[in-house]
Amino acid sequence: YERPFSIGHPLRLYKGVWMGEKILRGTLVMQQCFKSRPTDIFLASFPKSGTTWLKAMIFSILARANCSLDTHPLRSLNPHQCVPFMEVEFATGRSKIIEVIPSPRVMNTHLPYFLLPDSITDSSCLIVYVWRDPKDVLVSMWYFVQKILGGPDKIATFDQFYEFFCQGVDTFGPIWNHILEYWEESRRRPEKILFLKYENILQEPVKYAKQLARFIGCPFSETEENQRVVEQIVELCSIKKLKDFDVNKDGDRVMSSMDVRISKGYFFRKGEAGDWKSHMTQEMAERLDTLIKEKFKGSGLQI
Ligand code: A3P
Repeated sequence: YERPFSIGHPLRLYKGVWMGEKILRGTLVMQQCFKSRPTDIFLASFPKSGTTWLKAMIFSILARANCSLDTHPLRSLNPHQCVPFMEVEFATGRSKIIEVIPSPRVMNTHLPYFLLPDSITDSSCLIVYVWRDPKDVLVSMWYFVQKILGGPDKIATFDQFYEFFCQGVDTFGPIWNHILEYWEESRRRPEKILFLKYENILQEPVKYAKQLARFIGCPFSETEENQRVVEQIVELCSIKKLKDFDVNKDGDRVMSSMDVRISKGYFFRKGEAGDWKSHMTQEMAERLDTLIKEKFKGSGLQI
């Protein structure tokens, strides 16, 4: 399926999920070959929902005993270099790098729950899921795609982009199925899946950093020193701080599984809630909200 703004590869519909061809191939290999370890931690998300931020947070929480904040790896490595993206590593034949990571490993995936390898769903490893208001996901995706493809004249208009999103035709879309499935699984197995919302973390980052630490098995005990450490981690992982490190500035482009060059800086833009207000008419926002509410109906989940 060719959209006017396909990034690298046309989208394929696989079991109701839209995916680029290469990512789909990576997914199929991963489903057959990936062996999880009981201590693995998977960060799952729909693209543009706060993956980069949560990668930085989980990585820093786990590494806190071994690295000082002055020489912290996040000062010289982009969060995506610290936490591998499973489908991409399998799609580009680099799955070996996942095998050699010492435990506990942290990895991320954008796959819907039902496409995860059995070795993840049927074992004791943990999943942290982050979701975000789909209206802001859409806006964030719009900017990301524009940057990759080089400007609005090369891609669809925002209105066309919006229409595709509402039809669910988006990489890993439709978004509503993605969120709902993890939500329902997290209610069935709260000890396995921690279900977080981007906007809530923005409001109370320290509280959620502590919750994350508890969930992944390395809690902060209630001491003044630990309070200081968790506040420092939150500060280090803030968009303001990360954006300022040279490694995260635009310019350094790497080849992705989609055969397009993505700059590490593209993952940091505004990092706010409600940016959709500057891009959508009230009517567009209401239409998308109504669509999502309809899909979430009866699930107990609200935007
Ligand atoms: P915006 O485009 O709305 O600014 P992902 O990492 O899943 O690709 O999501 C990218 C979105 O998360 C972008 O949103 C980006 O700016 C935001 N983001 C990246 N790092 C962040 C951080 N440290 N804190 C908050 N938001 C962050």
